Amino acid sequence: MKSLDVICVGAAIVDIPLTPVSKNVFDIESYPLEQISMTIGGDAINESTIISRLGHKVGLISMAGDDAVGKYIVEHCEKEGIDHTGVVLRPGVDTSINIGLVTANGERTFITNLNGSLWKMNIDDVDLDLIPQAKILSLASFFNNPLLDNDALVKIFRKAKEAGMIIVADMIKPRLQETFDGFKEALSYVDYFFPNVDEAQLMTGETDLEKVAKKIISYGVKHAVIKIGKRGVFIYGSDGTNLIVPAVKGITALDTIGAGDNFASGFITGLLEGKSVEECGQYGNVAASIAIQSIGATAGLKNRAMFDERLAEYRRQYNITK
Ligand code: ADP
Ligand code: NA
Repeated sequence: MKSLDVICVGAAIVDIPLTPVSKNVFDIESYPLEQISMTIGGDAINESTIISRLGHKVGLISMAGDDAVGKYIVEHCEKEGIDHTGVVLRPGVDTSINIGLVTANGERTFITNLNGSLWKMNIDDVDLDLIPQAKILSLASFFNNPLLDNDALVKIFRKAKEAGMIIVADMIKPRLQETFDGFKEALSYVDYFFPNVDEAQLMTGETDLEKVAKKIISYGVKHAVIKIGKRGVFIYGSDGTNLIVPAVKGITALDTIGAGDNFASGFITGLLEGKSVEECGQYGNVAASIAIQSIGATAGLKNRAMFDERLAEYRRQYNITK
């Protein structure tokens, strides 16, 4: 028996979302906002939080500084029921804090600490022996922790595959010109890969969705799960899967920070509950649709009941009865 359902590897930081900020922010001497406060951020802890709220047992592998923000991260894990055995608080490192500027229509940019924990996390911060405790390994994002390079990821993924685990991964746009070719071996282990369409097009040099997906599959990825914003998600598999799973209708996006993380959590929940790949896509869309209606990555989806209610609404929208 496995003691965990999922292990999430990646960033655990703090976000300070500032919204709404207009593009002429520097033209104004003091910029008034209704709210400025710290929220938990970072792809791996966001994902862990939502998976835990959806009712599954999750462990986090991450590194933060041995500082007030690091303690806040551990406290958050305890409050959310996330196993933080794998969270290292490393002395001498500042936990990363991301300042997020969000415009009224949801566009965003981040201001980031180049010497923060996110940039310093490396393979030595990853306790490989924790990995086999779970059924699914989720790399919260390729390229988010720059020191988790191809070799580091191969070590992590190999451990997961030896234990018979499913491997899922999201990505962010590379900051250091990393390429898929440079991560060939790591990609070959991934069963479900969750880029959004912009990221996928950028990395493959293709524009047509099917060509983009075929290129991704050519690296040995089993399923390219390409998020296409308000259109939902396109899923293309080496097993012949080729479908668009439409998004929830009638959603006004207030803040898309964390939409991708929530999508991953929903999709992973579907996998854990034995759902088909199409249903996993629906679960991802449903979780993401809730997330984008609140400011902050983990403020929207508070509990399983909210998810089940939105899933029921989704099924009514598309007359899904089976
Ligand atoms: P990312 O957040 O990674 O950039 P997307 O913008 O594609 O990725 O959004 C992730 C997911 O959020 C989508 O696949 C979809 O399920 C959901 N989503 C995004 N925008 C909307 C919208 N306007 N209405 C409903 N769902 C949305
Ligand atoms: Na993403």
